[in-house]
Amino acid sequence: MSEKALQGKRIVLCVTGSIAAYKAVSLLRSLVEDGAEVSVVMTPSATQFVAPLTFEVLSGRPVLQRLFADTHPMPHLKVTEDAALILVAPATANCLAKCALGLADDLLGTVFVAARCPIVMAPAMDVEMWDHPAVAAHTRTLRERGIMVLEPEEGPLASGLLGKGRLPAEHAILEAVRARLAVQRDWAGQRVLVSAGPTREPIDAVRFITNASSGKMGYAMADAAAQRGAEVLLVSGPTTLPCPPNVMRVSVTTAEEMYQELEARFSWATVLVMTAAVGDFRPRNPSSEKVKKHQWDGEPLELERTPDILQALSRKRTHHVFVGFAAESEDLLANGRKKLRQKDLDLLVVNGITGPQSAFGNETNEVILLPRHGTPIEVERLPKRLLADRILDTVQEQCIGSPSSRSQQPHEGIRRIQ
Ligand SMILES: Cc1cc2nc3c(=O)[nH]c(=O)nc-3n(C[C@H](O)[C@H](O)[C@H](O)COP(=O)(O)O)c2cc1C
Repeated sequence: MSEKALQGKRIVLCVTGSIAAYKAVSLLRSLVEDGAEVSVVMTPSATQFVAPLTFEVLSGRPVLQRLFADTHPMPHLKVTEDAALILVAPATANCLAKCALGLADDLLGTVFVAARCPIVMAPAMDVEMWDHPAVAAHTRTLRERGIMVLEPEEGPLASGLLGKGRLPAEHAILEAVRARLAVQRDWAGQRVLVSAGPTREPIDAVRFITNASSGKMGYAMADAAAQRGAEVLLVSGPTTLPCPPNVMRVSVTTAEEMYQELEARFSWATVLVMTAAVGDFRPRNPSSEKVKKHQWDGEPLELERTPDILQALSRKRTHHVFVGFAAESEDLLANGRKKLRQKDLDLLVVNGITGPQSAFGNETNEVILLPRHGTPIEVERLPKRLLADRILDTVQEQCIGSPSSRSQQPHEGIRRIQ
């Protein structure tokens, strides 16, 4: 019989006071079915929504509710001491705030600051709450500390409103848990050069041409490769994203600078991951001064091509594996295949850029993976960090030639296109 993905892993499932608390019951069942040993922590508010007895029966363990309890003198230390992962699902706005501030005035807050294992949080709340600047700031703080805060889903909410705030789908939460626990260093020995973000081409001292790339996909790729043991160098255009742990970042502004930095490091790399949305054009004669309104006489802005980085690096290519990203607005498969050939890539990740679910700026993405050899793979919508692991699995299997141990586990949400 094949080993279950979470076999023997100790997971602490923290349930907080959201209307989505009932979904944690099904989540608990799936974790247990996947082999995990789950201890449940509930806040007093959570018990207003679901009776602790439900979790107690399904986990086969007493539910921890109070810091000062009869069961153990220090329940926060007992429950975290051999935990492989803490999963907070659903996570309320209150819980995000408490955890971001490190407030330890109840069992959940104290568990959170006592924990030394990976933490995954799956928020659920009304769209107005999710959009509140305080919630956004707490989420950012938690993510900067390496905590995986999943993006809530869009859709109908308990309030009757339509928007972002639904608890992420169960399969996405389970996928995140498995990814955080997959501690394989299966990319050890690889040297990965990642380009990310937009470029900026100056018009004058204060104006520039740029694009809507946020850099999130490239940063997710860098983070995933580093966590899996690769040495990673990230050449990044202007973004506000924090540098992932164990990644060396070089910041650039223009396409020319990006080209220079990538070229200088190219011989070091074994794998090149080009996620950057490099500008194709730049003003031919940028002014070093700010051009005053009255100085412009109606002359159109003259543009010239920026360097074709992939083409230039292709000429110097020896052992390298090339992974490219394409943003397409129509006929994703046909246009992707054309680009794969033209750019001589080993793998092309094609994403759609139209509609509200566009790849640009979003936390999630759905893509088609086009390997040079083999069948295209459609990957359904996933948080970008999880998608990054799927891409690395495919690169490893299809381009490096060593099957990824992770990819031997069945993945939901993957479909091979014939
Ligand atoms: C019916 C009802 C539904 C609620 N749903 C949510 C929710 O989905 N997300 C949220 O952040 N807060 C929600 N709240 C508010 C929280 O329960 C409240 O902020 C509470 O203090 C959270 O405590 P906890 O984080 O310790 O569990 C809801 C409150 C009520 C009365």
